[in-house]
Amino acid sequence: MYTLEELKVFVHKCRRCPLWKNRTNVVFGEGNPEADIMLIGEGPGFYEDKTGRPFVGRAGKLLDKMLESVGFKREEVYIANIVKCRPPNNRNPYEEESEKCLDFLRWQVKIIDPSIIVCLGAVSARNIIDKDFRITQSRGVWYTKGKFHVIATYHPAALLRDESKKIDAWKDLKSIREKYNEIMDKNKLKG
Ligand code: URA
Repeated sequence: MYTLEELKVFVHKCRRCPLWKNRTNVVFGEGNPEADIMLIGEGPGFYEDKTGRPFVGRAGKLLDKMLESVGFKREEVYIANIVKCRPPNNRNPYEEESEKCLDFLRWQVKIIDPSIIVCLGAVSARNIIDKDFRITQSRGVWYTKGKFHVIATYHPAALLRDESKKIDAWKDLKSIREKYNEIMDKNKLKG
């Protein structure tokens, strides 16, 4: 079993797909290494590539507010992406790129061992829940994947483009908070 730091060293050297050629920085992911909640986006954008940190641009600022609205601090969760290098012009990652990078994400999940995984947007949900996932139809639904409770909600960038989606995103956030409380209560009972 690797540590997150060991894994990070591998990922920073990665040349498994052509996305390495245009990257300024690898965006490995960040947050609490013992987080109960892991949020998984699609891939780095312009500011993430420049800084090497996930969700620091406009969508990231909104994500911080979304988390705060249900009482989570960014520092207490872990935030990662399906692909760790920025796709040109922020296009969706190609299947081959996601597949090659998913190995790293699987290791991250194994090490962090969260109770809840939140897929941000369709690209994330298609890689984690089901390859035919439809975000408008199936967001807000809880899935069980092995020992993980998994849910998908809109990507914050989608909420910036279409504010009407915020009502449903808010429902999803409340559902995530409820599930989290439920799990924490159960864990307390177990001692
Ligand atoms: N969008 C993503 O999916 N991930 C980021 O890190 C930033 C924007």
